[in-house]
Amino acid sequence: MPDNNRNNDISAIMDLMVTDFAEAVGHGMVVSTLAVHTARELGYDEVFCNDIAMAGMLHDIGKLRLGEVLHKKRSEAMVVEKMKYVRLHSEYSRSILKELGFSEIIQKMVYHHHENYDGSGYPGNLSGEDIPAGSRILRVCDVYAALISDRSYRKAFAEDVAVELMIEEARHFDMKVFLAFLNVIHSEDYEQIRKLTGNRVDAASEQYMRENCIIEYNV
Ligand SMILES: [Fe+2]
Repeated sequence: MPDNNRNNDISAIMDLMVTDFAEAVGHGMVVSTLAVHTARELGYDEVFCNDIAMAGMLHDIGKLRLGEVLHKKRSEAMVVEKMKYVRLHSEYSRSILKELGFSEIIQKMVYHHHENYDGSGYPGNLSGEDIPAGSRILRVCDVYAALISDRSYRKAFAEDVAVELMIEEARHFDMKVFLAFLNVIHSEDYEQIRKLTGNRVDAASEQYMRENCIIEYNV
């Protein structure tokens, strides 16, 4: 006899996987585009820019391997165990890129994209210039892209609020990179990038979210 509950569960998980995939592609495009513009602003050559474009697109690919933990109780705030599990995605991303034959430079950019400049990130607790340059760029662009997007537990922040929040956490970022990034988002080119970014909220909801929501951009 068919187990209808199980079929419903599988169908719900499949729907979430499709949504996750679409979100991952959208997020990858924004991070990749911001990272390329920031790298150019910093004077990196086109080889580096091509590498970071790829790394930005694929940095979270490992999340697709995290499976059902991500698909259970998505509306709940992340518990510690779940956060620890999600943090494995950097390693998964690197191993997928290795399997697919991407260069070691791209693998390293991706593996370290959650390192913070002050050493408080993961997976290596690297700090300062020990963090690969590409990862330092990805870190800034990834945080911004996450803040200006809807999440299952909160709505998107407006761009200026996202920047304010990042300034408050500036110890996480390479200041040279952060300043170059600010130049990018205040440049005319940004109009093109903005077309890739998603959802907006009004000022009242934004105030509510600032006061009531946990910012979970660090996972
Ligand atoms: Fe990530």
